[in-house]
Amino acid sequence: MGAVHDTAPTLFFRVGGMPFFEALVDAFYAGVATDEVLLPMYPEQPDLTGARHRLTLFLAQYWGGPTTYMEERGHPRLRMRHFPFHVGTLERDRWLVHMAAAVEQVCAERSTPEGVAGELMAYFVPTAEHLRNDSGLPISSARPSR
Ligand code: HEM
Repeated sequence: MGAVHDTAPTLFFRVGGMPFFEALVDAFYAGVATDEVLLPMYPEQPDLTGARHRLTLFLAQYWGGPTTYMEERGHPRLRMRHFPFHVGTLERDRWLVHMAAAVEQVCAERSTPEGVAGELMAYFVPTAEHLRNDSGLPISSARPSR
């Protein structure tokens, strides 16, 4: 009797691998490129090549694909990596609007299996909230008096 293995196919496998994540991230950043709140936050903007590369590899790794992100960038520590950027409810919601549109578009174009869009959004919604680093409460925006 062997050990019990989790043999459920990963989402990475079910969507057909890397091309799906490349298409998703392309569609997402096409939206970001038009967003007057989000675009200015990207350190290398208007060049989003590096940001696209990092998000593609991160998502592929997260959903069970190759671990290239880890090899290139180390442990994701996403909350820490977002500290330099002001992520309030506005930024979170705009990020999610572009991602939801990208998920819908790419899943439709590629006839992605039933359920995948829902699984993706069930990750993105709470994660975007988790990365928010401005509570929106008056205290969090307060500056020391001078
Ligand atoms: C589910 C939500 C999110 C995920 C999975 C995510 C993922 C990532 C990843 C993997 C990186 C690259 C980190 C690195 O290797 O250096 C990154 C960078 C970044 N993220 Fe997010 N993020 C999310 C939400 C947000 C939100 C809500 C904002 C706010 C607008 C945001 C703004 C940025 C910016 C400005 C960068 C720097 C771009 C760059 O890599 O050069 N992210 N994010």
